[in-house]
Amino acid sequence: MTEQSPALQNLLTENRTFQPSEEFTQRANAKADLYDKADSDREAFWAEQAERLHWDTKWSQVLDWSEAPFAKWFVGGKLNVAYNCVDRHVEAGYGDQVAIHWVGEPGDTRDITYAQLKDEVCRAANALLSLGVTAHDRVAIQLQMVPEAIVAMLACARIGALHSVVFGGFSPTALRQRVDDAEAKVVITSDGQYRRGKAAPMKANVDEALAGAESVEKVIVVRRTGAEVPWTDGRDLWWHELVDGQPAEHQPEAFDSEHPLYILYTSGTTGKPKGILHTSGGYLTQASYTHHVAFDHKPGEDVYWCTADIGWVTGHSYIVYGPLSNRVTQVVYEGTPNTPHEGRHWEIIQNYKVSIYYTAPTLIRTFMKWGDEIPAKYDLSSLRVLGSVGEPINPEAWVWYREHIGAGRTPVVDTWWQTETGAIMISPLPGVTATKPGSAQRPLPGISAKVVNDAGTEVPHGGGGYLVLDKPWPSMLRGIWGDNERYQETYWSRFAAQGFYFAGDGAKYDDDGDIWLLGRVDDVMNVSGHRISTTEVESALVSHPTVAEAAVVGASDPTTGQGIVAFVILRGSAVDGGEEAVQELRNHVAKEIGPIAKPRQIMVVSELPKTRSGKIMRRLLRDVAEDRQIGDVTTLADSSVMDLISAGMKSGK
Ligand code: WTA
Repeated sequence: MTEQSPALQNLLTENRTFQPSEEFTQRANAKADLYDKADSDREAFWAEQAERLHWDTKWSQVLDWSEAPFAKWFVGGKLNVAYNCVDRHVEAGYGDQVAIHWVGEPGDTRDITYAQLKDEVCRAANALLSLGVTAHDRVAIQLQMVPEAIVAMLACARIGALHSVVFGGFSPTALRQRVDDAEAKVVITSDGQYRRGKAAPMKANVDEALAGAESVEKVIVVRRTGAEVPWTDGRDLWWHELVDGQPAEHQPEAFDSEHPLYILYTSGTTGKPKGILHTSGGYLTQASYTHHVAFDHKPGEDVYWCTADIGWVTGHSYIVYGPLSNRVTQVVYEGTPNTPHEGRHWEIIQNYKVSIYYTAPTLIRTFMKWGDEIPAKYDLSSLRVLGSVGEPINPEAWVWYREHIGAGRTPVVDTWWQTETGAIMISPLPGVTATKPGSAQRPLPGISAKVVNDAGTEVPHGGGGYLVLDKPWPSMLRGIWGDNERYQETYWSRFAAQGFYFAGDGAKYDDDGDIWLLGRVDDVMNVSGHRISTTEVESALVSHPTVAEAAVVGASDPTTGQGIVAFVILRGSAVDGGEEAVQELRNHVAKEIGPIAKPRQIMVVSELPKTRSGKIMRRLLRDVAEDRQIGDVTTLADSSVMDLISAGMKSGK
């Protein structure tokens, strides 16, 4: 953590604070006493939060941590997650409330009420049952932001099948890896998706991914673009043909609180993505509670919009499970933020009177780049809470967000959490906290986090180190799909003596004890809020026939947080390392993993800096990539290597 990017240095000198208005505080869902209440009896606190949900059978024990790090929350309780997100609102008389204002990229729209959503989810559940999908089966979903994506997830939850949503931008190779790992029985996709005004194919990629995939029995295809698609008779089914004719009644079954809900793959420090496993009762409790307190959401009053994609955990917890369990009315937008123009988000906020908006720093920085005058053209006065997630937000972007989007009036909540944590862990409370630009500040009531040094001792105020979670929380991951050992090793071995969960993030306390996140401390990069492992990109590079060796680093980037920079050694001198070869490699990575993993820059080098034991010193490569003075080279096997590499850079090679 000695190497800090300018944005992070900036963080360390930021000292402005913003108090919530009196009016906001008075009406806020969470009051200041919530912290003490949670501290005085954590389990009683969480039991009270679990009462937000409908349980068919009440739990007998709040937490069983006897087999740590494998937690059980609300032991013995039974509930149906989909019933909690949909049916109970209809039963309570809110069937006509709009659940989803869906906006298609080309401008088509659909408003879906809770009554309609319930019917759709029941039909889809019946459709899956008709294909022989039962509880514990896995269903892979690769869909863009269409209502069917949400319906499909809820239909799985309803029948106790696990969904594994795969981001629409992932390559066939990446999809196949995930389908195989989870042994998915059914895959749900679409014919194509609208991206930047064009219809891009989806089904064709899925077909490529699934060639020879043994576990897959059926592929369900949502019609969206109307494009011609390849078809495998006996395997492929149109969503509308399969689902529309199903009965709109389905009796939800109550599943155990620890019944698995979903798997979501995320990058780790090795090349193989980890299937993060979440279960039902604890997950839904925390997703629901955090959405209620961190965004101050008021059902029937607010219009909420989380701009994430359901391919990421933010889409799972803050589009599907948290918001719907809280009877949200929300916007779901299919497309890109600059199609057909750069004011698209502001236009949507104006049209639907969005009051809570949750997005990522990378997008905020992009909006800044596009210009202040764009949001200024729209009426954004409906907004009352702004949220940020996915990466550290630099104070400049935070202040711009509050000023230009929130009219200098709205609280901004910077929410820290991970795929593994399932729900928000560290965040201001919008009616309580005097917010600080760039700081996620305090663990939410009920959550405990600490910044510790190498030895696992908490650092004093003003000190920096590693972020750990020192107490179990309801929405914590229950493991890595099929690999308990990796679960223990990845998260629980670093501070095994203390029993801390190691998040992989660096953090510091300021003098008030507020937490500032400083980015990953492992080999995971964060590009536009997407987690990508350096090893994954390195493996993709060396799978190309011209590459002998590759080393990848995340270099700080003013817009995307980090950018991927690769150093490659090509095979033999016969291979030309010119522009064309580099382009080919960038495309190769996009094809292997997905466009989000395309390196920003590839540098062809003749050597890589290695220690005597052969370990690549990424720290030094980061210095080169960020154009900094090169750090300590004394542990290199050959210290002249860095001179060679830097000389190569300067000559523009
Ligand atoms: C980073 C996304 C700073 C962090 C919900 C974490 C953040 C990783 C923040 C998880 C934030 C997320 N401030 N860093 N507010 N939110 N991160 O699993 O490095 O896609 O470990 O979950 O994103 O990314 P994931």
